[in-house]
Amino acid sequence: MNLADLNKVAQAMVAPGKGILAADESSGTIKKRFDAIGVDSNPDSRRDYREMLFRSKDAMSKYISGVILYDETIWQEAKDGTPLVKLIEQAGAIPGIKVDEGTQALPNCPGELITVGLDKLAERLKKYYERGARFAKWRAVIDIGPGIPSYTAVRTNAHALARYAALCQAAQIVPIVEPEVLMDGDHDIDRCYEVTEFVLKETFQELYYQKVALEGMILKPNMAVSGKKSAKQAGVEEVAEKTVRLLKNCVPSAVPGIAFLSGGQSDEEATAHLDAMNRIGGLPWKLTFSYGRALQSAPQKAWSGRSKNIAAGQQAFTHRARMNSLASKGEWKS
Ligand code: 13P
Repeated sequence: MNLADLNKVAQAMVAPGKGILAADESSGTIKKRFDAIGVDSNPDSRRDYREMLFRSKDAMSKYISGVILYDETIWQEAKDGTPLVKLIEQAGAIPGIKVDEGTQALPNCPGELITVGLDKLAERLKKYYERGARFAKWRAVIDIGPGIPSYTAVRTNAHALARYAALCQAAQIVPIVEPEVLMDGDHDIDRCYEVTEFVLKETFQELYYQKVALEGMILKPNMAVSGKKSAKQAGVEEVAEKTVRLLKNCVPSAVPGIAFLSGGQSDEEATAHLDAMNRIGGLPWKLTFSYGRALQSAPQKAWSGRSKNIAAGQQAFTHRARMNSLASKGEWKS
């Protein structure tokens, strides 16, 4: 492992005013997104859609540091034969790859999941590096509900995240470590805080056991927010204050950056929360975005699968990327 080079990539992923585009929806997930806009999901339509995003010159060169790709996309070519990876590089952004293989039921833990994909990961990472990937992503999913999460689920997922991160660094790839505590339940923000704190503490403990170099990774957490079905919805200031406090208590300052997932927040909420956190200031790490839905819902609607709407789709994407870039500097105005 060359830690100086890993650190350089990690720093570039959270460069001032830039964040990450999470375009790594699995074929199942992108089908759901396309169904919502009445577009048939097939390799060509998925390629056309992602090509539209990666050819958004302003967004990609000014506001996006890197793109997380799905396995299908990293091997695809644009309509003119240019590999999609090259389009991303030409725009000055870094290609990344989702390497987990989704979730399975965790034995003895009803309703809980374990993320899989460690087998043969070393070989897959080697191929992705050759194709141009310089960072990767692995997402663990922790749900909040009556009696969950269990210690077993939190610990087992943290262990898998750490094993993945160590394998990435051995392959000279920066791991994005993503332990996502879902916001689907009816819990309040304090319950989200408590569970996320436990998950992050366990994750960093396991990263230590696996000897992962914190200078060569990026953390991708959820924010401390109220569950979607909670009657008590925390406002922007409370989310920002509690999330910053939570992260300061759990994330060592050796980690170069924290790039949040949007997790089902509206586009505006995701931007407002990031902005409010950066306005607090005095933080030991960069705080930026690694949004999927909060960057893509608007361009998906504007595009709706029609080539005549490509410019409108790119404009919508550029707008959201610019708003989140401003938020990453605490300079966004609603
Ligand atoms: P969302 O921002 O839509 O939550 O997606 C980010 C992501 O990469 C989830 O794994």
